[in-house]
Amino acid sequence: MRSMLFVPADSEKKLAKGLASGADALIIDLEDSVALANKEAARRMAAEFIATTRTGPALYVRVNDLSSGMTDDDLAAVMKAGPAGIMLPKSNGGEDVARLDVRLRVHEAENGIADGSTRIMPIITETPAAVLAAASYAGASARLSGLTWGAEDLSAEVGASATRDETGRYTDLFRFARLSTILAATAAEVAPIDTVFPNFRDEDAFLRDCREGERDGFTGRMAIHPAQVPVINEVFTPSPEAAAEARAVIDAFAAAGNPGVVAIDGKMYDRPHLKRAERLLARTKPAGAA
Ligand code: COA
Ligand code: MG
Repeated sequence: MRSMLFVPADSEKKLAKGLASGADALIIDLEDSVALANKEAARRMAAEFIATTRTGPALYVRVNDLSSGMTDDDLAAVMKAGPAGIMLPKSNGGEDVARLDVRLRVHEAENGIADGSTRIMPIITETPAAVLAAASYAGASARLSGLTWGAEDLSAEVGASATRDETGRYTDLFRFARLSTILAATAAEVAPIDTVFPNFRDEDAFLRDCREGERDGFTGRMAIHPAQVPVINEVFTPSPEAAAEARAVIDAFAAAGNPGVVAIDGKMYDRPHLKRAERLLARTKPAGAA
């Protein structure tokens, strides 16, 4: 999954626009972008939208966090429609994912949905304790499809007045959260998904930021505006040259009988190179396949 577009669940117009955006997934939001007074209407609209949309992007729902008192009502409303996955905000660790996992299991049974088919993607850096528990996701649930992170809620929790410095670089606190996400996702063998870029009119800065994320190991990114989707898809789709190079590395290892090390055009390639090539090729699979 390269691009995941946030769509407030209480906006019929944005739900329709999201479908046409080219995003690999929509994250139908019941949390921060929906006012308290609108939660019930948003749940109904989300369920209706999912039930009537049978093709196109994978449909995830972002529910309200487990301490909000709203998660169960969110799940009861949307699980009837069978979303592809649930995004869990303010996750404090693998235990929160395990708690959501058992709830989903009940809803799947009640609604005749295949056991274990609903995926979970938590947002893992929205509280200080959560950042420090990033390592706890490995093995938490077979439903995990990826880990993502957020800067805004963490900055509010910590009392940081900005997330980036004058040059546009994240300050240390957020660099730490961002790197924790890459490491935690890789350790859990799921996709590291980069966070949103709120300044959606600044296309140059967004492109630069996407490239940095891809370079550092993220395999996809969340969007808040349809204009961000093509940029994400472009940056997180391996180029034909990169794919051909990866294919050549894999072929060279196979042709040599899968040794520890091979030489290609006078350069040494060992197991880490092979692993990187395999990971890159896996990302060239069609959208929605991962
Ligand atoms: N999904 C689908 N469609 C969207 C969209 C989104 N996330 N964001 C904007 N659009 C639509 C708008 O409705 C508008 O449609 P129109 O041309 O038919 O009027 C069009 O795209 C252009 O939007 P624009 O005028 O540039 O932005 P805006 O001022 O309408 O919206 C936001 C700005 C930030 C309010 C909007 O992008 C948004 O709601 N983003 C998602 C917020 C969210 O879910 N946050 C939670 C996660 S951080
Ligand atoms: Mg939030």
